[in-house]
Amino acid sequence: MYVDGKVANFALLFRNLCRTIWKKGDRLLRRHRVIQVGCGSRGRQWAQVLFEHPEVEVVAFVDTDPEKLADFAVKYPDIQQYELLTDALLRESADFAVLVTPPQVHKEQCLELFDANLDILAEKPLALNIEDAVEIVSTAQNKNRKLSLSLNFRFLPVSQSYRKWISSETLGSPSFSLYHYGVHRGGYGKGGNRYPLTLKDAMILDQSIHHFDLMRYCFDSEIEAVTARSWNPSWSVYQSDSVVSTIFHMENGMNAVYLGSWTSGWDKQCVTWRTDCSEGVLIMRQIHSDLVYARRTDTDLTPIPLEDAVPYIDDSKILLDRFLNARLDEGPLECDGVDHLLTLAASLACIEARDQRREVLMSDYYRENGLLKLFEDRLK
Ligand SMILES: NC(=O)c1ccc[n+]([C@@H]2O[C@H](COP(=O)([O-])OP(=O)(O)OC[C@H]3O[C@@H](n4cnc5c(N)ncnc54)[C@H](O)[C@@H]3O)[C@@H](O)[C@H]2O)c1
Repeated sequence: MYVDGKVANFALLFRNLCRTIWKKGDRLLRRHRVIQVGCGSRGRQWAQVLFEHPEVEVVAFVDTDPEKLADFAVKYPDIQQYELLTDALLRESADFAVLVTPPQVHKEQCLELFDANLDILAEKPLALNIEDAVEIVSTAQNKNRKLSLSLNFRFLPVSQSYRKWISSETLGSPSFSLYHYGVHRGGYGKGGNRYPLTLKDAMILDQSIHHFDLMRYCFDSEIEAVTARSWNPSWSVYQSDSVVSTIFHMENGMNAVYLGSWTSGWDKQCVTWRTDCSEGVLIMRQIHSDLVYARRTDTDLTPIPLEDAVPYIDDSKILLDRFLNARLDEGPLECDGVDHLLTLAASLACIEARDQRREVLMSDYYRENGLLKLFEDRLK
């Protein structure tokens, strides 16, 4: 009996020792301490991505809305919570922040985070005007802080394949492209965000900006000139125009026509992205999936096999991985501030083109907005 007790005590001690070592080891492996700012709909996805990364330790959540924090407390009871970023920065020690707040507050928060010497992985758009975005990017450069933008869709298998098929010229030389994104996005869905309902040009700056970024990425070219129109159908729930059409002429000769809508005649999301090349067509038939091709004389389309991936999660995991490697100087910083500025500039140039009813040359836009110096290494 006595011997059994001793064995049991020893087993308990041994188990606790193992647990302590495991916890300490796990903690040592978690080399990047993060504060997540914003716990809304995209914030829920980011929290999952951060918690599933073995090298990340989430030290705090920040959100001005106590209800959002209460929801997070149920799922993540051990994590500190703050309603004000300032308080989190005063009390917590962190290496970087994931910024998942609406774009209206990005500048103020980025500057505060850089002041506290944190790197930032921020949601797009970085800001709603070029001056604010440039100030954020320049501050990151001056303070030698890492700034990456959440251009996550680049890392989906479908985007990677699209880019490869175009750059390898498997279907010949690409010439023109048609991107259609349509959905009736009611704007009041459960758990969904509300700020786009009233934000000026939310369709272009919050949604189409992703599609414009994919065009830059998959066609591997900067945009040379833009024209644009936008309008708001009678049944729209948005204050600002929720349908946008643009034409991009790209520096490598590609021409891309785009129609994006949050106020479609059908709730179901429909997306087609077709690129015509000298020897065939490449078509993405659904958002984030269903890639097919046909050679010029084919009678049918042929599916292109793609790896499985959960959009918003698996793509963000890759982005996070790259960001963390860059923090440790073990890889290049991808989707950095300047890269994002090039897409944001094209989006804002669309607004200028629409307002002034003219084609905007991006070289003029860069010059007039003092961007040439920032872009000198990126423009070929
Ligand atoms: N990359 C993507 O795939 C993707 C997808 C969806 C949204 N987004 C982006 O993510 C960002 C957030 O969008 P969302 O859909 O989560 O919006 P949301 O409204 O659902 O969430 C934003 C959260 O930020 C909080 N907040 C607002 N001001 C704050 C402040 N000053 N300090 C702290 N918290 C504050 C709000 O209370 C809210 O909980 C936007 O920039 C959006 O464009 C990106």
